[in-house]
Amino acid sequence: MKSTTDLTFFLVFLTASFIYRASAAPQDSSVAGLYSLLQRRIPSHANSFYFDLTSGNGTALDTFTLSDVSSHVHDEEKGGAQINIACNSVSACARGLYTYLTEFCNVDIYWTGSRLSHLPSSLPSLPTPVTRTSLVKYRYFFNTVTFSYTAAFYNFSSWSLLLDWMALRGVNLPLAWVGYEYILIEVFREAGLNDAQIGDFMSGPAFQAWNRFGNIQGGWGGSLPTQWVSDQFELQKKIMTRIQELGMTPVLPSFTGFVPRAFSNIYPNASIVNGSQWGGFPVMYTNDSFLEPFDPLFATLQKSFIDKQIAAYGANISHIYTLDQYNENDPYSGDPGYLQNISSATFASLRAADPEAVWLMQGWLFYADEAFWTTERVQAYLGGVPGNESMIILDLYSEVQPQWERLSSYYGKQWVWCELHDYGGNMGLEGNFVNVTVEPLRALGAPGSSMVGMGLTPEGLEGNEIVYDVLLDQAWNPTPINRTEYISSWVQRRYNVPRLPASAVDAWQLLGETVYNNQDPSTQSTVKSILELAPALTGLVNLTVHSPTLVFYDTNSTIVPALHMLLDASAESYGALLSIPEFKYDLVDVTRQLLANRFISLYESLVSVYNSTTTTPSQISAASVPLLQLLTDLDALLLTDPHFHLSTWLDSARAWSGGNASYAAYLEYNARNQITLWGPTGQISDYASKQWGGLVGGYYKPRWEAFVGYLVDSKQAGTPYNASAVLDIMLAIGERWDLETGSEVGSVGVNGDVWETVRALASTYS
Ligand SMILES: *[C@@H]1O[C@H](CO)[C@@H](O)[C@H](O)[C@H]1NC(C)=O
Ligand SMILES: *[C@@H]1O[C@H](CO)[C@@H](O)[C@H](O)[C@H]1NC(C)=O
Ligand SMILES: *[C@@H]1O[C@H](CO)[C@@H](O)[C@H](O)[C@H]1NC(C)=O
Ligand SMILES: *[C@@H]1O[C@H](CO)[C@@H](O)[C@H](O)[C@H]1NC(C)=O
Ligand SMILES: *[C@@H]1O[C@H](CO)[C@@H](O)[C@H](O)[C@H]1NC(C)=O
Ligand SMILES: *[C@@H]1O[C@H](CO)[C@@H](O)[C@H](O)[C@H]1NC(C)=O
Ligand SMILES: *[C@@H]1O[C@H](CO)[C@@H](O)[C@H](O)[C@H]1NC(C)=O
Ligand SMILES: *[C@@H]1O[C@H](CO)[C@@H](O)[C@H](O)[C@H]1NC(C)=O
Ligand SMILES: *[C@@H]1O[C@H](CO)[C@@H](O)[C@H](O)[C@H]1NC(C)=O
Ligand SMILES: *[C@@H]1O[C@H](CO)[C@@H](O)[C@H](O)[C@H]1NC(C)=O
Ligand SMILES: *[C@@H]1O[C@H](CO)[C@@H](O)[C@H](O)[C@H]1NC(C)=O
Ligand SMILES: *[C@@H]1O[C@H](CO)[C@@H](O)[C@H](O)[C@H]1NC(C)=O
Repeated sequence: MKSTTDLTFFLVFLTASFIYRASAAPQDSSVAGLYSLLQRRIPSHANSFYFDLTSGNGTALDTFTLSDVSSHVHDEEKGGAQINIACNSVSACARGLYTYLTEFCNVDIYWTGSRLSHLPSSLPSLPTPVTRTSLVKYRYFFNTVTFSYTAAFYNFSSWSLLLDWMALRGVNLPLAWVGYEYILIEVFREAGLNDAQIGDFMSGPAFQAWNRFGNIQGGWGGSLPTQWVSDQFELQKKIMTRIQELGMTPVLPSFTGFVPRAFSNIYPNASIVNGSQWGGFPVMYTNDSFLEPFDPLFATLQKSFIDKQIAAYGANISHIYTLDQYNENDPYSGDPGYLQNISSATFASLRAADPEAVWLMQGWLFYADEAFWTTERVQAYLGGVPGNESMIILDLYSEVQPQWERLSSYYGKQWVWCELHDYGGNMGLEGNFVNVTVEPLRALGAPGSSMVGMGLTPEGLEGNEIVYDVLLDQAWNPTPINRTEYISSWVQRRYNVPRLPASAVDAWQLLGETVYNNQDPSTQSTVKSILELAPALTGLVNLTVHSPTLVFYDTNSTIVPALHMLLDASAESYGALLSIPEFKYDLVDVTRQLLANRFISLYESLVSVYNSTTTTPSQISAASVPLLQLLTDLDALLLTDPHFHLSTWLDSARAWSGGNASYAAYLEYNARNQITLWGPTGQISDYASKQWGGLVGGYYKPRWEAFVGYLVDSKQAGTPYNASAVLDIMLAIGERWDLETGSEVGSVGVNGDVWETVRALASTYS
């Protein structure tokens, strides 16, 4: 059966490739975007690839066949193989190209940049055709909050890199939130709200994800400028075009029901209820007003929204809509009849505006608020939507807390197995290889499974790229990927140097069997370092579950030897590895983790010194010296690589200001506040903390200095430790720092020598 299909493809593409050679430019416009991708990323070999798209029958899974047609091509073209990629979808063709580039040419594209152009000048031939088929219809990408934690200030070139990264890996269903506010504001204006009323509702550029979720409303630090709204809309038009060119179907926004408070003044009879309080924010910033979907106005606004969206981006781009009403937001009533009524009316509004609408929702609530979302309530809520094809649920945290079993495969509705892994763009090294390779296959094979996709839903994209790669690779592999084999080839292409020293691979194998083999259920997701938390006498170390700080592995037998192996590899390659940006990134990242872990024992020493009744103030000062020195060292380390710079984040925010100083300050305040206080007065302080050069030295270190100062003073005065006084000190530092816009953020040691810096730190902290 399979070989017959292969043979058919083979014959079809052979014929097609002759046709392509005859014409100067590719004729098939639906793969034109892939030819553009070649021009963008591999211009020197852009003419060595042919995409041969044959339309699928609508139900077939994405598949491609690679073959070397160089023996059939006669022209002056030099450079080895000519690769034909036969496929039944544009996405499959993109994945086919990726498969050839990664597996045969040893190059890849990363969050740190594209290295695809480093492929061999003579393309390696393929002795026999290679056919692969995706296990699932959808390869999904994005969490709603990734748009704020990572992409809030992305310009189009950053988007372009990420979209190419996704398309090549075979992602075909990305969320597309950018520019949402432009259309929503038009809808509100049409409904009769004035700009001041709308302005009270919209949140700042770094916080839009939670406004879209109905968790927060309004903005601290100023109201949302119209310039931002229209710039993002323009950006979205480019993103939308590129998404389509790359064969991906965008998941489009829709009207969710969250409205400005003033809506009920204009429509006093409308059915409006307040959502719940989120993150400890005061009422003015949360308890968003929710227009209940059974109110006829809901359908009116939905139609208005979707019509405007179609007018902006075109019809039939996608019929899949993201729509979350109860993400970390309690329903007004737990009555199953009410919940069913809500979803039924919501879906009816979508279908009235788009007869082919499919409703996609994040399933985080079913885990995070499992006590509320009993099977009866979930069944009622999902049951309000007729048919199984009409919904897609993202099983958001499948690698740790899958809900598909508890919820009987979402009672038949389509769902996607998603890897969440990262909270708030936190940066600890961590992964659970077994669960992201074995578990999606188990879910797919489960009796009665209605799983239709595999995807990535990290809150932020910060390091640990390997654990995301492997899931998207697993989507094309019918058996669980073998970790040791995977790491070996992954490292070979990540550090694309001739004769890669074995110690580089060994370093990663060691990390693979330890930090990327985390079987501890209480520390799943990026492990946060306590140095990023507001200093306090208690409550920092060994936190588990959400944003864990418990280091689940022994640093001395994992990070330390891995770092030394990377250094050995670098020495052995005569420094060639140091010119590879990904190697440099990893060297800094592993050293960062070493220092972050070492901080814990320095902190614990400081606390026990303070706690001892016989301690003198000067003994506290002495105990603080190595702790503060570590922060200085860490900052210098991070400043050797721009991927770890605070200024990269702040500059990307300011870049949207067009040189307007007060607008730049507003944007920078947003950027600063998100990664520090996260709220006007530290509502979820340090949730989205980062280990970035400039932030460690300019923010975390002053906090620890203030803490030490407090401990010394309290010992001096003989007054007991006062936790709330310390919190107040930290809050004041945060409020001040967030407003220090326009200031220099860490230039000492910028781009200092990585090799010298890491070697020195490895010897100090090993
Ligand atoms: C579509 O293709 C798939 C896979 O090749 C096959 O299993 C299925 O029967 C086909 N469906 C139709 C309607 O031809
Ligand atoms: C609201 O309902 C009341 C009572 O049914 C009615 O008298 C009033 O006209 C309605 N107001 C609006 C604005 O529809
Ligand atoms: C929602 O909250 C606002 C602000 O506190 C309040 O004025 C309003 O009455 C609330 N609405 C409902 C329906 O409870
Ligand atoms: C806000 O939500 C909380 C529940 O989370 C509720 O107790 C409170 O009454 C709400 N406030 C308003 C004004 O709606
Ligand atoms: C969108 O697709 C529908 C059929 O699904 C078709 O009737 C309609 O004309 C299309 N609209 C446009 C603008 O292509
Ligand atoms: C939903 O509830 C509203 C208000 O109670 C009611 O008018 C409507 O008929 C209900 N709709 C469905 C589908 O049950
Ligand atoms: C791996 O997945 C299984 C099945 O869902 C789950 O029971 C287990 O707790 C997961 N492992 C960890 C460490 O989270
Ligand atoms: C993975 O591959 C390695 C090397 O080929 C082999 O030794 C190991 O047994 C494999 N692991 C599993 C779980 O199959
Ligand atoms: C944290 O856990 C480690 C080992 O897991 C233990 O040695 C240490 O005492 C714990 N610290 C606290 C404060 O609980
Ligand atoms: C790890 O190594 C450090 C530095 O050599 C040493 O101080 C510490 O005791 C070691 N920790 C463990 C758990 O072996
Ligand atoms: C220090 O003292 C606090 C209470 O004052 C206590 O909670 C904490 O466990 C102590 N820590 C150490 C390391 O002794
Ligand atoms: C886009 O943003 C990146 C990262 O902030 C920056 O390095 C780059 O210069 C920007 N590109 C353009 C064209 O502005």
